[in-house]
Amino acid sequence: MREGLLKGKKGIIFGALNEMSIAWQVALRAHAEGAELVLTNSPVAMRLGTINELAKITGSKVIAADATKMEDIENLLTESMKIFGGKFDFILHSIGMSPNVRKDIPYESTNYENMLKTFDISALSFHRVLQTAYKLDAIKEWGSVVALSYVAAQRTLSGYNDMGDAKALLESIARSFGYIYGRERKVRINTVSQSPTVTTAGSGIHGFDSLVDFSERMSPLGNATAADCADYCVTLFSDLTKKVTMQNLFHDGGFSSMGMSLKAISQYQKSFDECDCDEKKSDIY
Ligand SMILES: NC(=O)c1ccc[n+]([C@@H]2O[C@H](COP(=O)([O-])OP(=O)(O)OC[C@H]3O[C@@H](n4cnc5c(N)ncnc54)[C@H](O)[C@@H]3O)[C@@H](O)[C@H]2O)c1
Repeated sequence: MREGLLKGKKGIIFGALNEMSIAWQVALRAHAEGAELVLTNSPVAMRLGTINELAKITGSKVIAADATKMEDIENLLTESMKIFGGKFDFILHSIGMSPNVRKDIPYESTNYENMLKTFDISALSFHRVLQTAYKLDAIKEWGSVVALSYVAAQRTLSGYNDMGDAKALLESIARSFGYIYGRERKVRINTVSQSPTVTTAGSGIHGFDSLVDFSERMSPLGNATAADCADYCVTLFSDLTKKVTMQNLFHDGGFSSMGMSLKAISQYQKSFDECDCDEKKSDIY
């Protein structure tokens, strides 16, 4: 039997709410590759979700932490270091939430209090985790930190709302801290820009089903699943990617490099064939 890719490595996984969560799949895969884990989520999510089941499967400890609270992050990292017996090797930041998306408040009439919460939960939490880990010198040399992002950081996708801005900030934090961590600690920091994936957070996006379908038709390799994402994250936590840092890595079946695909255009054409839309037909030629 081959040795696990993460044998002997220890890491913290944020954001496993239920078995649909991308973080859930990453935890399963990292465990299967030999990693020792601490799982964390906000106290509310721990009550509503099923993280304790995941902890049982993976033999992990669970520590509650609201990622917007500095004292929670400090407690999480300090307690994790006690559990691991010192520094650890990797972190997965898999956290996203927009009150504007949840309340269906459109971008053009945003509520700024909500928008600040979106940034705080979905992006500044990453800075908070990195800053605290830096202060505690918690991550080993050649360790790896990954946060999950989406192509809406670079391109406008209808309905993604202020989460697009939050993802742009998240990716920028990965670069800014990536420089400091690389220079001072030999630790790498990257974001993985994942295909739309059916999860609790994903399904909250307006028009999500159509987005998944469109993305599937546009991507030459099809959408990447949560399990595919877990495979990719494991390579980034492993020693096989030691010199990859400060990157936003698209993990999307090729979507981000496409303009129009045969599958998408034939579906688009069908919508005109099926209805009496002569006006619209003439518009596109
Ligand atoms: N699902 C998709 O289509 C998709 C695509 C690209 C990127 N992503 C990103 O993947 C990540 C994980 O999302 P997911 O799709 O697995 O959905 P999910 O709902 O399973 O995970 C989101 C997690 O964020 C946690 N969270 C929210 N507020 C928090 C807080 N204050 N403190 C700590 N944790 C908090 C939730 O409890 C939940 O576990 C997010 O960053 C999301 O933006 C998702």
